[in-house]
Amino acid sequence: MAASMVQLLRLWWRRGGRDRVVAFAGFGILVLTLLFTVSSLFHDAGERTAFVGQSDGPVLVDLTLVHDAEKKGAVCLDGSPPGYYLHRGFGSGADSWVVHLEGGGWCDSIASCSSRSRTPLGSSHYFESQIHFYGILNNHPSLNPDFYNWNRVKVRYCDGASMAGDVDNESQNSTNLFFRGKHVWEAVMHELLSKGLANAKQALLTGCSAGGLATFIHCDDFQALLPKQTTVKCLPDAGFFLNAEDISGKRTLGSFYHNVVHLQDLTKHLSKGCISKTEPSQCFFPQEFIKYIRTPLFILNPAYDAWQVQHVLAPYKSDPQGDWQRCRLNIHNCDQKNIEALQGFRNKMLNALTEFRKSKNGGMFINSCFTHCQTHSNITWHSPTSPKINNRTIAEAVGDWFFNRREAKEIDCPYPCNPTCYHLDLNAIWPGA
Ligand SMILES: *[C@@H]1O[C@H](CO)[C@@H](O)[C@H](O)[C@H]1NC(C)=O
Ligand SMILES: *[C@@H]1O[C@H](CO)[C@@H](O)[C@H](O)[C@H]1NC(C)=O
Ligand SMILES: *[C@@H]1O[C@H](CO)[C@@H](O)[C@H](O)[C@H]1NC(C)=O
Ligand SMILES: *[C@@H]1O[C@H](CO)[C@@H](O)[C@H](O)[C@H]1NC(C)=O
Repeated sequence: MAASMVQLLRLWWRRGGRDRVVAFAGFGILVLTLLFTVSSLFHDAGERTAFVGQSDGPVLVDLTLVHDAEKKGAVCLDGSPPGYYLHRGFGSGADSWVVHLEGGGWCDSIASCSSRSRTPLGSSHYFESQIHFYGILNNHPSLNPDFYNWNRVKVRYCDGASMAGDVDNESQNSTNLFFRGKHVWEAVMHELLSKGLANAKQALLTGCSAGGLATFIHCDDFQALLPKQTTVKCLPDAGFFLNAEDISGKRTLGSFYHNVVHLQDLTKHLSKGCISKTEPSQCFFPQEFIKYIRTPLFILNPAYDAWQVQHVLAPYKSDPQGDWQRCRLNIHNCDQKNIEALQGFRNKMLNALTEFRKSKNGGMFINSCFTHCQTHSNITWHSPTSPKINNRTIAEAVGDWFFNRREAKEIDCPYPCNPTCYHLDLNAIWPGA
């Protein structure tokens, strides 16, 4: 798996010139995926040692391709069926479900979607037949105290638009690409319902990055699929992409989102409350529509989200002088000016969450770390060395919120105050990038 990620990285890197934002989006995600793959390998080794004599490292779970997907028009960019990995719950968790939506950026043009359709982010032909489950999907109570024995699902991301695209075949203009994310969402959920999700007593929808955004977008849909008496909540991880200007005053991610929304015709499936008030592509930004979400939400995001620093705050194009070249890869390399801009970014994120912070059922964990997804690996989710705020790990805060044990609205003090942070060093992953 690590080897295939390295190959993919090279692929994305080579295509870099063609469509910078997309390539970088994919590149960033893949770097992080690679990082977590690498750390998962450590995790793997660590866990094997910790559970000597029991043949139970992180569980290896088989891929399931969605049945009759083509018939339902629920297909990946290249027309292949979507897929997921399901590990059954047991004991007291047998009727509880956690569904995780994979991330991996977006594509905003025929050319970039076409490149993507030849990778695991656009075609099930490249999905691994088995994967390990880590973090919130881990099946050991010491690493995942509240959800380890639930039914746990990882849904692959292969539509390029956070599972919200909806273009008919007829309007494809013979591109051979399919923009069917909304149908993928429905087909996967219906298959899971038939496998026991329909009888869930409690369910948590989560996802990382573009999957975190999909979690915001589909949270109320998810609740609507389940019986009234089911406890349903949502945990978007690193999906709070800010509607903010970059350091040169441009809305880089805003114009990128505009293209995604129009290419894949997302308008029908974005928040109706938001669409009635503002330009549709604005409604791809969670801060513009969280107030319309009725299902309880826990917003997990680092204030210095590494992906957002690279693509929202200081994208390459906004930085011709290279003032962010080193800082973009490692927060320890940031100079005073960079840090000021980072603190400004954090303030914008906190401002965008002011109303949400007052919500009765909400939870939040905005830590001052330079990282991206944090539910993924035991380093960040729950281990003796995980990042904490007020002595709680992310897993503990999420559990306290889900089970109403105590309020969990944590906002960290600004960098560099938190010694428990796990800051990414992207230099170490891709020297010279
Ligand atoms: C993952 O958790 C195990 C068990 O607590 C630990 O030994 C290992 O060091 C962790 N891995 C990492 C990379 O932190
Ligand atoms: C749309 O695409 C699906 C999947 O390839 C196919 O099964 C279906 O027949 C197509 N519908 C039309 C109207 O072309
Ligand atoms: C398909 O063609 C129509 C009309 O020529 C155009 O408006 C639309 O943008 C095209 N769609 C794509 C996805 O290229
Ligand atoms: C932090 O939490 C741990 C376990 O949850 C507890 O043992 C410890 O006493 C707590 N430390 C402080 C300072 O509250």
